[in-house]
Amino acid sequence: MLINIPRWQNIGGLLVAVLFAAMIALGLSHPSPADDSPASKISGFSPYVTKDGAITRPTDYRETFLHLGTYAVATKPDKPLDEMHVVYARPEDVRAYRRDGKFPDGATLVKEVTRVGSDKLTTGQSHWATDIKLWFVMIKDAKGRFPGNDLWGDGWGWALFMGKEPARNVATDYSTDCRTCHVPAKKDDWVYIRGYPVLKN
Ligand code: HEC
Repeated sequence: MLINIPRWQNIGGLLVAVLFAAMIALGLSHPSPADDSPASKISGFSPYVTKDGAITRPTDYRETFLHLGTYAVATKPDKPLDEMHVVYARPEDVRAYRRDGKFPDGATLVKEVTRVGSDKLTTGQSHWATDIKLWFVMIKDAKGRFPGNDLWGDGWGWALFMGKEPARNVATDYSTDCRTCHVPAKKDDWVYIRGYPVLKN
């Protein structure tokens, strides 16, 4: 008995040692995977752009961005207004534009396209924005960071998110999806600034 007790203790000690060795070996042969958390994929210059140039939709723009202006649009000839295009930018982008007369690197423009309600109110025939159909997003890239990526060009990243699937950018090539329609605004860095009075000093 007296001899056996230390022996069991030894075996116990041995087991613990083996267990430790196994844990260390496992740890070494399966090193923890590279950090692939969402935060590690974000590019340095914009919280809405990943390192490989994918564009995500700002979800907090209604709370944290400023309203630049709204275009009320009748998309079909001789038909009533059927869309509101409500455009937002971050406060720092508005400040920089008012100071420098241009959008800074990383500037983020969100255009939400809504359906429209209309009624005769005490003011007259009134129109207002209702639910969101889709979002257009432009991110200023003053450095040409993504030369091989078709979402990027002419100094901007370009993206489109549909109301039914708000997390997925459905634009694939800005030159066919966006550029032609923005040519008339080329002299203003591709932005239709006439509708954004807050950018003026
Ligand atoms: C059918 C033409 C057309 C297409 C296609 C188009 N845009 Fe535009 N976009 C406009 C016009 C015109 C305005 C401003 C007036 C308005 O909204 O009615 C505008 C405004 C915007 C704005 C608000 C800032 C600004 O430039 O005034 C953003 C952001 C935007 N577009 C992004 C995009 C992106 C990204 C794409 C492609 C995925 C795209 N647009 C495709 C015509 C177009």
